[in-house]
Amino acid sequence: MKNRRYRSESWWNDPENPGMTALYLERFLNYGLTPEELQSGRPIIGIAQCGSDITPCNRIHLQTVARIADGVRDAGGLPLVFPMHPLQESIRRPTAALDRNLAYLGLVEILHGYPLDGVVFTTGCDKTTPAAIMAAATTDVPSLIFNGGPMINSYLDGQPAGAGTVTWRARQLRAAGEIDDAQFLQMLAGAAPSPGHCNTMGTALSMNCLAEAMGMALPGTASIPAPWRERGQMAHATGKAVVRLVEEDLRPSRILTRAALLNAIRVNTAIGGSTNCPPHLIAIARHAGIELDMQDWETEGYALPLLVNCQPAGKYLGEDFHRAGGLPVVLRELLTAGHLDGSALTVTGRTLGENVAAAPFPDGEIIKPFNAPLRERAGFLVLQSNLFDSALIKTSVISENFRLRYLSAPGAEDTFECRAVVFDGPEDYHARINDASLGIDEHTMLVVRGCGVIGFPASGEVVNMQPPDALLRAGITELPTLGDGRQSGTSASPSILNASPESAAGGGLSRLRTGDRVRVDLRARRVDAIVSEEEWQRRALDVPPAPPATATPWQQLYRAHVGQLDTGGCFDFACAYRGVCHTVPRH
Ligand code: FES
Ligand code: MG
Repeated sequence: MKNRRYRSESWWNDPENPGMTALYLERFLNYGLTPEELQSGRPIIGIAQCGSDITPCNRIHLQTVARIADGVRDAGGLPLVFPMHPLQESIRRPTAALDRNLAYLGLVEILHGYPLDGVVFTTGCDKTTPAAIMAAATTDVPSLIFNGGPMINSYLDGQPAGAGTVTWRARQLRAAGEIDDAQFLQMLAGAAPSPGHCNTMGTALSMNCLAEAMGMALPGTASIPAPWRERGQMAHATGKAVVRLVEEDLRPSRILTRAALLNAIRVNTAIGGSTNCPPHLIAIARHAGIELDMQDWETEGYALPLLVNCQPAGKYLGEDFHRAGGLPVVLRELLTAGHLDGSALTVTGRTLGENVAAAPFPDGEIIKPFNAPLRERAGFLVLQSNLFDSALIKTSVISENFRLRYLSAPGAEDTFECRAVVFDGPEDYHARINDASLGIDEHTMLVVRGCGVIGFPASGEVVNMQPPDALLRAGITELPTLGDGRQSGTSASPSILNASPESAAGGGLSRLRTGDRVRVDLRARRVDAIVSEEEWQRRALDVPPAPPATATPWQQLYRAHVGQLDTGGCFDFACAYRGVCHTVPRH
């Protein structure tokens, strides 16, 4: 079975340096491991723990890692659990986006500097998954992704209602004066009924589905609700599988190929996945040395249909999705229709096509068949502008109301024109949104800037701005929005977002003023401020409002090195490193 000396053995058993070997061993003995275990030549498996008391979305992993470790032992490996930098989307201020690259860098350093031969990355809440796969790409250590799973179903008035859906609804009710602050909290708490991450097809569930689609997680693991027994059973299977990956030396560089990433883009359309996935997937590609850009998202993903009837694009939640068979059902539908590369290798050691050959058929309600989808052409449009080089709009969440108001027909790619009202950051938006002198009506586009990777910093989920209270009371629940920030993957807002370059980096948004007309032409993939060339050039001399002060040393490093969202929000210098664990550091 064993065909080579493992990386860890240069710590545990260096015949040329028995003194160092003893030094490395002795501290592991102090909690009861034995030299026999450590020197047995078994693969040493790291288990990256993303759960803690400050990451409630991932806290289920305090239990799952024990079952992963059991699986590792049962397959003949030796498990060592270590912490990763916490990434809690809903709590970390100013935004957990600051920490994706920090967690990534931390994982790379741990995997490079410690005696580990393979790793299970526990994941869940939004940024844990991309940080883990980025680290897998850079280190090229045999790697498996294990999601903590979504919360069980939550309900509002008897209907499935996920955390994001409830939050947006509760905000509207509170803005309309129909509920008070205590009722607001009760509504929100009702949408978080168990351990687990967001139960909608938000960024967490989307990214874990994409991890599975890329071949980095065991089939069927993405959507198992956190408290279900299957979660523990698949944790055990994952522990066993990673030992086999090490024995077979099956590394991420063989799994993370352009074919696998294009598969992920197509799957993101079929599941109604998050607008945060493009920057994350591009970041993974860059760290893996694979060409992938924003245009690939439209070219590969736009024309495909939406199959998964989950919020925010549809009706159901992660638990329902899992009962209906989860991602393998979707993969087989896309594969049968000729829209996936079934030859892509996965962590099972088999191809994607082989993994899902026996998947169940769509139930027709929660997962639709390819030939009778929930919506046609459900991917992202990639837009260009005199305000930015690229931005996204998620077409699957454009509501009927919005289509009727701004577009001529379902699926129409149309033109409409609005008057811009510009906010400099979310504080400015909250301070002035109800200011009647701004003249916000249904022909207004709400614009927010200063929210990109440098400006915010790290890019805020703030573009999904709701209309002023007066419009909400009149039944207008959404306006066109535009910004250089992101929005929550749980949001159903038809925003134009991730505009790059951001205003703080001198992007065209910095020249826009309240009162300017903005024309949206979805057919031409254009969004343009209608301002004379002369005036536009004059405004180039305007200095955009200064972004908030840099508050921590990390923010300073981050702002100095981060690239724009359309290239993944990566550190360029980090993208040059490959196969960091093909070598062993000096003693
Ligand atoms: Fe953690 Fe949504 S806030 S998954
Ligand atoms: Mg989010």
